[in-house]
Amino acid sequence: MCGIVGYIGKADAASVLINGLRRLEYRGYDSAGLAILDDDRVMVTKAPGKVAVLKDKTRSSWAPELMQRASIGIAHTRWATHGPPTEANAHPHLDQSEEIALVHNGIIENYRALRARLEGKGHHFYSETDTEVLAHLIGDCDKGDLFQAVTDALHQVEGTFGIAVLSAREPDRIITARRGSPIVIGVGDGETIIASDASAIVAHTKRVIYLDDNDIAIVTGDSVEIRDLNNVPVTREIAELGIDAAAAEKGGFEHFMLKEIHEQPDALSNTIRGRLDLDLGSAVLSGMATSPRELAELSRVVLVGCGTSLHAGLVGEYAFEDMADVHAEVEQAAEFRYRNPLLGSRDFVVAISQSGETADTLAAVREARQKGAFVMSLCNVVGSTIARETGRGVYLHAGPEISVASTKAFTSQVAVLLMMALKLGRGRRVSRDEGIRFAREIESIPSLVSKVIAQSDRIEAIAKEYSANEHAFFIGRGPMYPVALEGALKLKEISYIHAEGYHAAELKHGPIALLQEGTPVIALAVDIPGKDKTLGNVEECRARGARILGIISEGDHETAEAMDDYIAIPRTDPLVSTVPAVVALQLFSYFVAKHRGCEIDQPRNLAKSVTVE
Ligand code: F6R
Repeated sequence: MCGIVGYIGKADAASVLINGLRRLEYRGYDSAGLAILDDDRVMVTKAPGKVAVLKDKTRSSWAPELMQRASIGIAHTRWATHGPPTEANAHPHLDQSEEIALVHNGIIENYRALRARLEGKGHHFYSETDTEVLAHLIGDCDKGDLFQAVTDALHQVEGTFGIAVLSAREPDRIITARRGSPIVIGVGDGETIIASDASAIVAHTKRVIYLDDNDIAIVTGDSVEIRDLNNVPVTREIAELGIDAAAAEKGGFEHFMLKEIHEQPDALSNTIRGRLDLDLGSAVLSGMATSPRELAELSRVVLVGCGTSLHAGLVGEYAFEDMADVHAEVEQAAEFRYRNPLLGSRDFVVAISQSGETADTLAAVREARQKGAFVMSLCNVVGSTIARETGRGVYLHAGPEISVASTKAFTSQVAVLLMMALKLGRGRRVSRDEGIRFAREIESIPSLVSKVIAQSDRIEAIAKEYSANEHAFFIGRGPMYPVALEGALKLKEISYIHAEGYHAAELKHGPIALLQEGTPVIALAVDIPGKDKTLGNVEECRARGARILGIISEGDHETAEAMDDYIAIPRTDPLVSTVPAVVALQLFSYFVAKHRGCEIDQPRNLAKSVTVE
């Protein structure tokens, strides 16, 4: 989604800001802009399209001396919500005096009423955005103290915001604040960088402060002063970023997505390392922060998330019921938050989110806590809002995921869920021997994934054959059902092929009507319970002319023969096999998209983290 960068220090602000925006490009956006201060003037350049367009425009409209002089500025990548991605709607927005500039992530819900009131006072607006209204409101509140003006304005807005504001009248500071949209402040040596995401900061410093909701900070080149909206000073710790700048580079791969697919053996090793107890046949997940008694008393596990994280939750559902003998449910976070769920203190709510910032998942966490459930999170981004609000949880340690299409986060989420199910299971009905067996299977996940990645050339050759189709169906049963859903999601988001995932049994309840000669059906026919029934469904599809690509188990020649094409994955436990199976589908989708010439890392209309409802 939208990205914010702010800079104040000794360097050339425009270059720092543009480099920062580049690091946020992965989040998805459709226009960009920046504002710098030159003496008493706010200079703004904005452009629809990519940061490269903005960079060229900045170079052609601003003199090199101006660029070198200006050492304070704010910048933004916008993912259109209110109004199309035009130059006028791009951020930064100015107030009526044109001396205050604002960049904003989030949504000001009462902007229409505020706009009407300001128009009544003679304000003119040039854009359709809620953000311009906030800029004018800050200007309207400014009686000579920018911090106070921002505070007064924020008291009047309803909705969510992460903002950075500068004023030509106070050129030594940037004011930044958050409610529901993340802000991280990088504390450098004589320079301070503000961003909506640490990846824009890591090239400058690893020392960061995460703002909490309703924090508002005065940021200078060498100080950060934080207060709450009632002007009461608050203290926030300086944290150390656990990522390095190289992690945000492609490292020789054509796309971040391919790099991240290849990183999975290492990412999974990091996820699993130190978390398996092979003597006891259990998992060591201190982040679950529950005593064996509490675990034994849990009556239900509710897994909430969105998109790919929701699909990981579905694999978790099978694992919790199979291994831990505990009733498990999965729910789309947006639905969960609004349907007034029945929850109590023996319910264990697990919020799954790579970014830790997804608005609906965060709201689900708040709802679950309100209702007294035991809440924990599975996040990848350290220090993210969901991780901090839940207080307890298990980090994925998968490393930064830059590609919009999630890959390594999914496999790490599944690995953690399997370990959680094992830990819970050992407190219930799983024997030590069975626990040891399962722990060893989990331990082998990185090497299983490496074996799938080693087949990339073959997978690419198959993918090429399927790349001209406009429709595809993915089918599976048991734990392969969520893999089918995830495979379809991957394919549609990066290749724009219309892809649907179905339970294999569901196909003949309607979707089979869509099969025609040559329609691709990707069948998850791994050798686990239920495979024979899936093969029956494959025959039904074949009888209607479908072209079948099977994801099968190594050495299963009979199943291979039932397919037009197949990708074989290593044999392992049924739950564990979800991981190599999904990796095969990630590679398949990637290569299909590549052969269709798609913009893989930043698919149209998509954003990396969805911080609005
Ligand atoms: C798909 C994808 C999305 C995310 C979803 C939730 O490839 O990336 O479906 O999984 O937006 O995001 P997180 O996990 O950050 O909450």
